[in-house]
Amino acid sequence: MSVLITGGAGFIGSHTAVEFMNAGYDVVIMDNFSNSKPVVLDRIKEITGKDFKFYKADLLDAAALDRIFEENPEIDSCIHFAGLKAVGESVSMPIEYYHNNVTGSLILCDSMRRHGVKTIVFSSSATVYGAPDEVPIKESARVGNATNPYGETKVMIERILKDIYVSDKEWNISVLRYFNPVGAHASGLIGEDPNGIPNNLMPYITKVALGKLPQLSVFGNDYDTHDGTGVRDYIHVVDLAKAHLKALEYIKSAHGIDYFNIGTGNGYSVLDMVKAYEQVTGLKVNYKIVGRRPGDVASCYADPSKAERVLGWKAEYGIVEMCRDANRWQTKNPNGYDS
Ligand code: UFG
Repeated sequence: MSVLITGGAGFIGSHTAVEFMNAGYDVVIMDNFSNSKPVVLDRIKEITGKDFKFYKADLLDAAALDRIFEENPEIDSCIHFAGLKAVGESVSMPIEYYHNNVTGSLILCDSMRRHGVKTIVFSSSATVYGAPDEVPIKESARVGNATNPYGETKVMIERILKDIYVSDKEWNISVLRYFNPVGAHASGLIGEDPNGIPNNLMPYITKVALGKLPQLSVFGNDYDTHDGTGVRDYIHVVDLAKAHLKALEYIKSAHGIDYFNIGTGNGYSVLDMVKAYEQVTGLKVNYKIVGRRPGDVASCYADPSKAERVLGWKAEYGIVEMCRDANRWQTKNPNGYDS
């Protein structure tokens, strides 16, 4: 039995590969390195003390996928991360986003089906809820008003997976809707390494704190939140990685298709995060308040109780560990994986 991890060299994929290997699974990783580096693979081996098979391949390459399943007949399930993920970029490159994410997922599912592999955990996102009608968000909330093409690709892939299940009840599908993944592995060997200037809050804060960027721009302080800045549900990437293990184990025995919010249930504002980071690390995070960023919502946090009730999964790490581990990663790797 082994698990194919698409996008396994990426931020969440690499942490998930570590948790699966630590739990005794054999993994096969595929990645095209479009937003990751080959050295990640060495780091995963260093952390786990184990080896694994790797394929440099693109999801759009159906022949490469077929070869992976043919050469590894023991693969019986897939954790699917591979895809483009930058919200702003998706607005200017919709064709690339729909093609890579949606077509890529179709090609993957088609190859899985032809090789009799019908168990998948899909990396979705809270972005599928768009601007939520209420928080905390439950899985039953309305889906489908994503505010950008990236979010729409997640909505579409969720829809495709549902239709696949309707057509063939042998599929076991678990859809995980992540809130805001942050932090890094406690070893400081793997972490988030965005291309260029980060779009997301936490990697931006870590770079400002270490003097690699001059100042954080806080996008708006006039939201209807406790201090006017945007509120999100930040989740430690190692907790998130562990949710995939639980989701795979559950769906293999329960069968069907099911959806889970993966967050802590706690909402922190941008300024809460800045303060927490300063307190935990002793570093200063310079910031200035600027206008709102288009497409942002005031408040987005999970009701994660279904994941606890059904999967037996609950976030173990809090904001202190998120800041501590993000800072350790950035300090040990000031230029990311190029350090
Ligand atoms: N923010 C700033 N300054 C920055 C970056 C972000 O003030 O430089 C603020 C944002 O306005 C927002 C909060 O910090 O209030 C979090 O922003 P992020 O960009 O880190 O995260 P988002 O909530 O916008 O989006 C993230 C992922 C998406 C995913 C979504 C799910 O980037 O991929 O969570 O809810 F879809």
